[in-house]
Amino acid sequence: MTKSFEKQIQPQISGIQPYVPGKPISELQREFNLSRISKLASNENPLGASPKVLQAIRDQLVDIARYPDGSAYYLNLEMAKFLGREIDEVAFGNGSNELLELVARIFAAEGDEIVYSQYAFAIYGISAQIVGATGVEVPAKGWSHDLPAMLAAITPKTKIVYLANPNNPTGTLFTKEEWDVFISKVPSNVIVVLDEAYYEYVDNSEYANGLDYIDEYPNLLVSRTFSKAYGLASLRLGYMVGNKELISYINRLRAPFNVNHYAQIAAVAAIKDQNFVKKTIEFNRQGMAQFLAVFEKLKLDYIPSYGNFICVSFGDKTEEVNKALLEKGVIVRPMGGYDMAEYLRVSIGSSTENQHFINVVTSLMK
Ligand SMILES: Cc1ncc(COP(=O)(O)O)c(C=O)c1O
Repeated sequence: MTKSFEKQIQPQISGIQPYVPGKPISELQREFNLSRISKLASNENPLGASPKVLQAIRDQLVDIARYPDGSAYYLNLEMAKFLGREIDEVAFGNGSNELLELVARIFAAEGDEIVYSQYAFAIYGISAQIVGATGVEVPAKGWSHDLPAMLAAITPKTKIVYLANPNNPTGTLFTKEEWDVFISKVPSNVIVVLDEAYYEYVDNSEYANGLDYIDEYPNLLVSRTFSKAYGLASLRLGYMVGNKELISYINRLRAPFNVNHYAQIAAVAAIKDQNFVKKTIEFNRQGMAQFLAVFEKLKLDYIPSYGNFICVSFGDKTEEVNKALLEKGVIVRPMGGYDMAEYLRVSIGSSTENQHFINVVTSLMK
């Protein structure tokens, strides 16, 4: 039966596919009667969060009934100091996801174009769809963003270009040399959003740190997150750095109190504990090596990754492997939604979780 409100749903909104959430871990555990689950599906931090963060949150539980500070005053001070920027050059979001989408709402509408790469993080295309703009997906080169092709895809209708460095789900990087050419040639009215959600994990001399370009390019916004290396995914906190005027528009549009009190408290403590981040990076390096050794041994095709996850191919057996992993309690991310159906994306977990994945895969490959 047609409902009376259906005709009123904005056409760009009715085209959006509903989000299909995975089952809670406890449900899966019950369904398959499993003693343990290794969740390697969302690029979370296997070390959890810094003990200093946990303590800071415990100390503030008494404030739970109060609204958070809508300006995130102390967090903003701490972050600006840490990044060497002004406080009005940083905006905070309910995850960087919120900020990435807000940029589309500020700068694009029907008739406009938003450029991003094939295999890039899905929210870029979804953001274009939400605002009714045309998403222009530029074919990747190998698995990487093809920056010259992305530049060539910019037309007078282009309002935003989204790039991820490293990219999720492929884990690929583009180099400083490629980026320098790209950013210097983008027309200055086009907003460039450089998504550095996995910035902390990168150890590569050819990497371009987006913050180094903020002063020269007032059309550049760099986004980062506390969900990955800082281990605060459940609290939802991301930030964007850029020209004051751009940041002021983000602040005008974001929902009041979009960053909860515990995210603010946690982030201040997290920034001050850079040793935890260092530990995380080292842990990730070891976990990645653990996976790579096995992929090489089993002659599995994989995409070299600079993040805390890696895509590995099981060819035409991918679905079967994913099913077997699930039945044994290992949750990874199938890549069919990204047109990479032969790949599974596996996050780097604890060595026990990694071994859990390795054991299942090795037994299937025999
Ligand atoms: C490339 C990229 N950008 C942004 C995000 C969003 O992260 P959050 O909203 O947790 O900050 C993710 C999360 O997986 C990501 O992979």
